Amino acid sequence: MEKITVNIDGQEVETTKGKSVLQAALDAGIYVPHLCYHPDLPSIGACRLCVVEIEGCEDTPTSCTTPVESGMVVKTKTPKVDQIRRLAMELMMASHPSECTGCPKYMKCELQSLVQYLGISADRLRKRLREVPMNSSNPLILHDFTRCIRCGRCVRACRELRGAEVLNYQKHNGELHIGTDEDRSLADAGCRFCGACIEVCPTGALRDQEGIFKEGVSREAALVPCRSACPANVDIPRFIRYMREKNYPAATAVVREKVPFPLILGNICNHNCESACRRSELNESVSVCRLKRFAAENDDQEWKKNSKQIAETGKRVAVIGSGPAGLTAAYYLAKQGHGVTVFEALPYAGGQCRVGIPEYRLPRDIVEAEVKEIVNAGVEIKTNTRVDSVDDLFAEGYNAILVAIGTHQGVMLPIPGADLEGVLVNAAFLREVSLGNKVAIGNRVVVIGGGNVAFDCARVARRLGATEVHLACLESKEKMPASQEEIEQGQEEGIILHPSQSFVKIVGDQGHVAGVECLDVESFEFDVDRRAQIKVTEGSEHILAADTVIFAVGQRPENVEQFGLTIGRGNTLQVDPNTLATSREGVFAAGDVVTGTDSVIAAIAAGRKVAIAIDKFLGGDGNIVEQLAPVEKPAAWIGRQENFACQARCEGSCAAAEERINSFSQVDHGYQETAALKEAERCSQCDLRLNIAVPKFWSEFPRK
Ligand code: FES
Repeated sequence: MEKITVNIDGQEVETTKGKSVLQAALDAGIYVPHLCYHPDLPSIGACRLCVVEIEGCEDTPTSCTTPVESGMVVKTKTPKVDQIRRLAMELMMASHPSECTGCPKYMKCELQSLVQYLGISADRLRKRLREVPMNSSNPLILHDFTRCIRCGRCVRACRELRGAEVLNYQKHNGELHIGTDEDRSLADAGCRFCGACIEVCPTGALRDQEGIFKEGVSREAALVPCRSACPANVDIPRFIRYMREKNYPAATAVVREKVPFPLILGNICNHNCESACRRSELNESVSVCRLKRFAAENDDQEWKKNSKQIAETGKRVAVIGSGPAGLTAAYYLAKQGHGVTVFEALPYAGGQCRVGIPEYRLPRDIVEAEVKEIVNAGVEIKTNTRVDSVDDLFAEGYNAILVAIGTHQGVMLPIPGADLEGVLVNAAFLREVSLGNKVAIGNRVVVIGGGNVAFDCARVARRLGATEVHLACLESKEKMPASQEEIEQGQEEGIILHPSQSFVKIVGDQGHVAGVECLDVESFEFDVDRRAQIKVTEGSEHILAADTVIFAVGQRPENVEQFGLTIGRGNTLQVDPNTLATSREGVFAAGDVVTGTDSVIAAIAAGRKVAIAIDKFLGGDGNIVEQLAPVEKPAAWIGRQENFACQARCEGSCAAAEERINSFSQVDHGYQETAALKEAERCSQCDLRLNIAVPKFWSEFPRK
């Protein structure tokens, strides 16, 4: 690029040929007022605020559209340009509401800033306000016509930056305004809801729907909620971009930058990202979890080339428990150079992923393959090895200990009959089945509980041959904590639901279960102390006949007392919330044993957090960040896609219910490539707007 020199306000400025006078001035720290100019958009010279005087030129050209020339002498502050700017501004302000206070708090109004800079008083202006009602009928985007100054930034962003061609100049009764052809809704006009128009609007005429910016939530987190909702902060938009490019290994590498179990998560993640996805405001969220599964199924392990491994530190860490929290921490600590041994009491590693989540949801070979990668990273896993004392581990020379034993003890309700033969409890029931041990169940099973684990128990019971499986819970059907998918699939498999039930006792016959006595619940809520306040229907006693009853009302850590650490509510370990350090020096805890039963992704996030803390404790820098896939600035051009807003979510294929109940084969068959690519195209790419430059205000320039 050829360098040239121009003189601006008496200052010799070196710049590049091809730039505009305005860009050269702004780059040199010389403020020139401007409004329709935006650094990411082609200039059109519409607002005339950026006019300047140029030696040898009779006009006062707009500096945003005038290219620099070598030796040019420019004056940006003269009485003549000041007068033109003030006139231009007064014309704009005449049709703009003077009481203009509705911009979101984060947004500094460029227009008001310029009014201030030029010292214009709105009071002396003859107003000719166009009273156009706000259009709040579109999802995600508010269109407040009265604030529009027709600078055309939104039109250029939509057409020339994004290639979506939705917004345009429209004429109504001789008045120019911005809108869609034939005044169609944004969805009907093919809008991709990327938010670029909002991002470049200088007045808030186009802005985000109310309520997305919340106290204490960063702007980035609010605008890209899929990423911020993920406990491990997986970069979902970047992941989906690689999916669209059919670069599945890079997509998996993006997930792997934050979690060592991409395929497990692709199968069973509770996908907070999907619940937060802004696309759900259009129709349905993007099926991120299935996309993750497809990507991980098509991985080629290229990520290993970029995986970091620090030299051996000579320090040793013992991890008690091989669930997602323990294995995640072990993985990152091994990569930080520490010698890590994981102790697992059961014959298999994987924790709840191996012995809790049923095989029809998470096949065992997936767990085994991803555990193997942990071992490949240098972690030693000792199965069938129960640890009873942290003292023994310190005596063996470990420098730090992580307790990550999860919540493997099922909880029973304190009602009579819970000790009868035929009464089982969730964790033990699922574990025994997962370990391949024989579990005796009857033909008629009643599961007590309304969460995902209750459905796991019910659906496993069905697969074990129970002919009639009932699931009874305190909550109403609408408020059942299980996922919609679990409820639907459970019902397809013949699970009979009994919501809004209170449990009086387990009824027995000669020492064996015969049923569950219940009462109908009229209303139920938790008080401030999380105690259930239940109102039952008088005289509604009835018995659900059963020969097996399975409690699935919660789980808690088992034998946690033996470690001699401070214990809190629900038998969980108390830790420092920042360092996850327990009451004993050198002993840390993470995952369900601290939080109570939570999701796999939450346990993984806790595993990362505690790995950082332990690494620092052992003298490391705690930096476990790694870049496994290239970070490229994504293309701003997303192009037009007709009917984008109404494209339905691809659900993937699922085995028929009659087939499902006869085996433990995986129920969800995931995506074929065509469906995966179609689904990836549904992403609005909300993060792209964060790459749009934020124009600098005059107050940010040095005062001259
Ligand atoms: Fe140059 Fe508007 S005319 S910024």
